[in-house]
Amino acid sequence: MNQDRKKDNGSFHRPVLAQEVVDLLAPVLPGVVVDATFGGGGHSRRLLDEFGGDVTVIGIDRDPEALANAGELGVVAIEGNFADLRHLVSEATDRPISAVLFDFGVSSHQLDEAARGFSYRKEGPIDMRMAPMQGSAHRR
Ligand SMILES: C[S@@+](CC[C@H](N)C(=O)[O-])C[C@H]1O[C@@H](n2cnc3c(N)ncnc32)[C@H](O)[C@@H]1O
Repeated sequence: MNQDRKKDNGSFHRPVLAQEVVDLLAPVLPGVVVDATFGGGGHSRRLLDEFGGDVTVIGIDRDPEALANAGELGVVAIEGNFADLRHLVSEATDRPISAVLFDFGVSSHQLDEAARGFSYRKEGPIDMRMAPMQGSAHRR
C-alpha cells in the first residue's frame, strides 16, 4: 500500500456530501451508526468530530486497504460485503442501530492506484476487484 495515502486520509477519498450526511443523521443520534461503505472514513470521521463519544461507528468495507485507516479513528472495523450486513453487524454488537449509511461506488484510492486496475488513465492490470484477496485477476 502507498504509505502516504495511509497517513493522509484526505487523499484516500474526500467525501463531497459529508455535511449533508451529518445533517441527515443528526435527528437519530446519539447511537450506533453503520458506515457500510467505509472507504477513506471521511463520513465516519465527520460524524465522530460532530457527535464525539455519543456515536459509535461500525465501518464495513470489502477493501482491506480502506480499513487500514479505521483503527486510528476508533471505529469498529469489519472487512466484508454489505450484502451480509445483518450478519456482520449482529456479530459486532447487540445494541440497536440508529442509522445505516451507504455511499455506493468506488473510492478515489481505488481509481488512483494503477495496480488496483480501475483506472482508465493509468497503465495497470485489468483487475477491478474491491477485495483483491478474493477470486482471480485477469492479467493483460
Ligand atoms: C465512494 S467509496 C466510500 C467513501 C467513504 N464514504 C468516505 O467518506 O471515504 C465506496 C466504498 O464502498 C466500498 N464497497 C463497494 N462495494 C461494496 C460492498 N458490496 N461491500 C462493502 N463495501 C463495498 C468500496 O470498496 C469503497 O471503499
